[in-house]
Amino acid sequence: MTNKLSGKTLAVLGAGKLGGILLRAYLDQKLFVPKNVSATVRHEEKAVALAKSLGVNATTDNAKAVREADIVLLGVKPQVVGEVLNVIKSEVGRDTLIISVAASVPTSHIEQRLGDKVPVVRAMPNTCSAVGVGMTGICKGAHASAEHLEIAKALFNAVGRTVVVDEKNMDAVTGLSASGPAFAYIILESLAEAGVKVGLPRDIATLLAAQTMKGAASVVLETGDHPALLKDSVTTPAGCTIDGIMELEEGKLRVTLIKAVVKATQRAGELLFEK
Ligand SMILES: NC(=O)c1ccc[n+]([C@@H]2O[C@H](COP(=O)([O-])OP(=O)(O)OC[C@H]3O[C@@H](n4cnc5c(N)ncnc54)[C@H](OP(=O)(O)O)[C@@H]3O)[C@@H](O)[C@H]2O)c1
Repeated sequence: MTNKLSGKTLAVLGAGKLGGILLRAYLDQKLFVPKNVSATVRHEEKAVALAKSLGVNATTDNAKAVREADIVLLGVKPQVVGEVLNVIKSEVGRDTLIISVAASVPTSHIEQRLGDKVPVVRAMPNTCSAVGVGMTGICKGAHASAEHLEIAKALFNAVGRTVVVDEKNMDAVTGLSASGPAFAYIILESLAEAGVKVGLPRDIATLLAAQTMKGAASVVLETGDHPALLKDSVTTPAGCTIDGIMELEEGKLRVTLIKAVVKATQRAGELLFEK
């Protein structure tokens, strides 16, 4: 997979939280050598700090950063995408692969602004990429080939798992797996709080909650079994778990989570149009 990237040059435009996570992972894993990588931010002092900490060419000049780049990773906020595309338009062409992680921004929006049939892949990773267990949904635009999709997969498989979806589902990916870590942290924190309520020290309660959530997720991923069947296997007749499940059902946990993802998905469709 990674040889798809060998010798390629990368520009990360908007090396903030997410762009920075990805950039650091690529350098740590030696997918790119620092001299082949450019990164941009808005503030000069942040560019200086980035160049110092990562050894890459860091600047506030987006046009300069993409000039030599084979792959451009667009990591700015959705509202800033248009401004950045206007600046780089004259520097990119059919040989440049644009990979955008901006929520809410369709591939057609980027294609129209860049023109010249520039290949575009849209991706929606999450911040769990920071520890190599990210989840990324990707889709290709009108001018991107299967090879471009493979390059994007190689980039996101380096920080976790990747799934290819239809573009119409990208806001749903945003609402579920990009916003999802925040929902999961709230559940985890609540379980830890519950542990404290029933007498456990907080650090132990947090460990029990986190490892239990990690374990349950790992079982689902490794066995492929339906979560409902796995839940049934933990639930002894007249045991303790069924009493806990009754409380969850009464508290409407399921419908609350469904509504949270629906709201986040709807919101994901709106960001581009905000100032
Ligand atoms: N955070 C997530 O969980 C997540 C998940 C999936 C996708 N995304 C997407 O990732 C993108 C970035 O999100 P984030 O959370 O990483 O935001 P962030 O931390 O605010 O990063 C944005 C970066 O863009 C830089 N920037 C702003 N204007 C610029 C310009 N004109 N040229 C070059 N760089 C510029 C900022 O520079 P300064 O640092 O100098 O201000 C900052 O470093 C968004 O489009 C978001 O939808 C985020």
